[in-house]
Amino acid sequence: RRGSVSVRAEGGINPQIRKDETKVVDSVVVAELEKPLTAYCRCWRSGTFPLCDGTHVKHNKATGDNVGPLLVKK
Ligand code: FES
Repeated sequence: RRGSVSVRAEGGINPQIRKDETKVVDSVVVAELEKPLTAYCRCWRSGTFPLCDGTHVKHNKATGDNVGPLLVKK
């Protein structure tokens, strides 16, 4: 039925990060990056979100998914 889908329905991408926020938004000024290369999480499972901590590897092995980080270069 149309209009009956909950935003909390199963299949949501974010299992636990900042669930008290209506929308999780992060921004970064590239010139202020400390390292020449910074990896940002796109799997929503990092313990250091919005940065990637490698948790996507475990997620991919467990589910057969193929997610990985966004790499931002200074
Ligand atoms: Fe999420 Fe690496 S931990 S993309």
